[in-house]
Amino acid sequence: MKIAFGSDHAGYEDPGPHFKPALMAYLEELGHEVVDCGTNGPDSVDYPDFGQKVADAVLAGQAERGILLCGTGIGISIAANRNRGIRAAVCCTEEMAQLAREHNDANVLCLGKRTTPLDRCKKLIDVWLATPFSGQERHQRRVDKLG
Ligand code: RB5
Repeated sequence: MKIAFGSDHAGYEDPGPHFKPALMAYLEELGHEVVDCGTNGPDSVDYPDFGQKVADAVLAGQAERGILLCGTGIGISIAANRNRGIRAAVCCTEEMAQLAREHNDANVLCLGKRTTPLDRCKKLIDVWLATPFSGQERHQRRVDKLG
């Protein structure tokens, strides 16, 4: 799958591994193609810019889905969700990742470097990528109402 990946500087925050390159490498190991939407270093940037870049890539069809990373996943999800057709979900448990797909057909997964360890981010990515939208009438109706 082609996946747009964006992060603010929090993806490069110390201590510990830099999450953005680690998660992009993980996606490539799984056989996915990653569209790099930046940022690519620890210098402070503004998360709305990167939420927008990933939303643009998904809406333009340059990627099927998007993954966003910031300190908590919250700011960058708010940014992405300002775009009609983007359903960006902040997830920190496997159940959230599963339900974000089954119920909400979330096309963007948002993760927090300060809140979610790297191994759990990988697990959340696994679940979110593997889980289809349920397609049940009530869920489709609700997604349709999002516009
Ligand atoms: C950046 O310091 C931080 O505010 C940002 O990464 C994110 O957590 C905002 O929601």
